[in-house]
Amino acid sequence: MEYEFLGKSDLKVTKIGLGTWQFGSEFWGWGKDFGEQDAVETIRISLEKGINWIDTAEVYGNGFSEELIGKILGKKRKDVIIATKVSGSYAKYQDVIAACEGSLKRLRTNYIDLYQFHWPNLEVPIEETMRAMEELVNQGKVRYIGVSNFPVPLVKEAQKALEKSFIVSNQVKYNLISREIDKEILPYCLSSNISIIAYSPIAQGLLTGKYTHNKKPDNSLRKDNPFFKEPNYSQIIKFVELLTDLAGKIGKKPTQVALRWLIEKKGIVAIPGAKNKKQAEENANAMGWKLDEEILKKLDEESRKIEITHITE
Ligand SMILES: NC(=O)c1ccc[n+]([C@@H]2O[C@H](COP(=O)([O-])OP(=O)(O)OC[C@H]3O[C@@H](n4cnc5c(N)ncnc54)[C@H](OP(=O)(O)O)[C@@H]3O)[C@@H](O)[C@H]2O)c1
Repeated sequence: MEYEFLGKSDLKVTKIGLGTWQFGSEFWGWGKDFGEQDAVETIRISLEKGINWIDTAEVYGNGFSEELIGKILGKKRKDVIIATKVSGSYAKYQDVIAACEGSLKRLRTNYIDLYQFHWPNLEVPIEETMRAMEELVNQGKVRYIGVSNFPVPLVKEAQKALEKSFIVSNQVKYNLISREIDKEILPYCLSSNISIIAYSPIAQGLLTGKYTHNKKPDNSLRKDNPFFKEPNYSQIIKFVELLTDLAGKIGKKPTQVALRWLIEKKGIVAIPGAKNKKQAEENANAMGWKLDEEILKKLDEESRKIEITHITE
């Protein structure tokens, strides 16, 4: 199994964790393509395969994702590292404290291993939010503090506002197609011992190779994603064909190679979302082997050539 400590914490997480935005989210097809039994099996196979942590958030399925995780884990809770998030809209001191109580209740636990502030709030000073986060650590309700979608200056401010805690992670979008963090966030976080938790690590299913020119997912979330629209889609599909070809040559799935490209680097862990047992198992099996330097280099070079146009309609 492959592990890494999150930042300066003693949270020793597997390089792959389980993302659970999918649980309870209609726009991912919850209640249509998959449901509670799939969630049970997704968690069970992930833990069986050695994954030791789950990422969720109070906003996922309006609290339903947390609730389901609490229910499914039951007594196993103590064996699993739970990372959840307070919504960016609850940035005021009392709101953070109240949000944490809600998450603890839904998760059926009395502590959260990693509590992340979900996205920047430009109206409430980060000092106020971080004071509340640190108070939760002092009360023993939160073990470690993380942020999400934070640019470098805000990570610095957040860290400065903490008296004795460390920001241990920044959860951001990172995959072979979305490489915006390469420039500033990645180098800063890695040099400051702040782990990168890569979300959407398989570009919301695009890097699995199952979507083609003739087959796109039909749920609303991805219909609105510029990656699934021209002029981006054709470029991405061409890259995915290369990824699929390279993966095939070494007897692996494109998903697994895309995940390895992320987790081979120290300081980066990834949280692919899964909707069923098969997906979860395939994702967990991205651990325990290594990619050839040559393949890594080729993917790196080719992915840099993709030029994403940010379409607004
Ligand atoms: N902090 C934030 O702001 C933020 C934002 C987004 C996500 N997240 C977190 O990151 C996690 C992952 O990101 P994400 O859900 O956006 O995208 P992702 O992990 O890149 O893609 C997940 C989707 O890909 C498909 N998939 C997954 N594994 C597969 C496999 N082995 N074979 C075939 N298809 C597979 C499934 O959808 P289909 O089967 O429908 O294709 C699944 O719902 C989330 O669950 C959440 O915990 C955080």
